[in-house]
Amino acid sequence: MRVGVVGTGMLGEAVGLRLLSCGHTVAVHNRTLAKTARLAGAGASVMDSAREVAAASDVAITCVTDADAVRDVAFGPDGLAAGAHAGLVVADMSTVCPDDSREISRRLSSERGIPMVGAPVMGGPDAAATGRLVVIADGDKGAVEACMPALRDISQEVHYLGGAGTAHTVKLAMNLQIASLAISISEGIELTRRAGADPEAFLKVLNSTYFSTGMSRKKAHRMARGEYPATFLLRNLEKDIGMAVRLAGSRGARLPGAEAARAAYAGAVRAGHGELDYTGILRHISGR
Ligand SMILES: NC(=O)c1ccc[n+]([C@@H]2O[C@H](COP(=O)([O-])OP(=O)(O)OC[C@H]3O[C@@H](n4cnc5c(N)ncnc54)[C@H](OP(=O)(O)O)[C@@H]3O)[C@@H](O)[C@H]2O)c1
Repeated sequence: MRVGVVGTGMLGEAVGLRLLSCGHTVAVHNRTLAKTARLAGAGASVMDSAREVAAASDVAITCVTDADAVRDVAFGPDGLAAGAHAGLVVADMSTVCPDDSREISRRLSSERGIPMVGAPVMGGPDAAATGRLVVIADGDKGAVEACMPALRDISQEVHYLGGAGTAHTVKLAMNLQIASLAISISEGIELTRRAGADPEAFLKVLNSTYFSTGMSRKKAHRMARGEYPATFLLRNLEKDIGMAVRLAGSRGARLPGAEAARAAYAGAVRAGHGELDYTGILRHISGR
């Protein structure tokens, strides 16, 4: 199918490359042109605007930092809305607050007649490259069905949850897991190292138990070596935990673990670690 990708950062680029390798016709746009070079080399059409991407696509995927960025690429001058046509669906893969997602979805639909699907994902660029993302989808069921040929090719599973905002609510709950797990592993590494045991011994024991996770089996070994090659920026996870805490507050829920995690990630961003992979929270915790 004709798929557009607006926002070709770490995740959007990998999604675009995967769609091309699956035989889709792909049009892309990114505010910073240089980040479209690899996609152009793989056969994507690089457009000057999101409007042109919309005009050339059946499904236009947005994969940008936050809700303000989604509004910019959707409603800004030369945005997606200006490229509206019958049959266009926007699928927003960015991690945003469910309230913002509902508002953007309503606006796209009422102002331009464009159905929007919420399509946040679990898994990073590596999972996208090999079609192993997990998509959490919401919105009009027919619009989700229209996106399925693209969503199936980038993912191992698509969970359809229901009305607008439901997918982003679950996505924020998922990112709480990521944030807490990265802190737990960091603290295990820091504790063992400072107290005279080998962090690798800690990971070996951990990975032989029920509490083993993908993170403890893969990224944790790099963390123990002080290596944090970025696939998901620490500042983006800090944004997500902030949203989760604010969403909880607006609904009368208290999340003490998330609040503590938010303070830790916000401190790491202030200390200049925002451009590291999120596992770089260990550098902030250990001070080295
Ligand atoms: N990486 C992951 O593993 C992962 C996994 C799941 C979900 N996500 C979510 O997916 C989204 C993208 O993540 P990423 O890792 O690809 O981040 P990233 O590498 O930091 O890329 C961010 C993208 O957003 C664009 N952008 C930001 N503000 C914009 C604006 N005002 N107008 C137009 N474009 C704007 C950037 O354009 P420029 O290049 O011009 O700055 C870039 O293309 C985020 O919401 C993130 O939380 C990421």
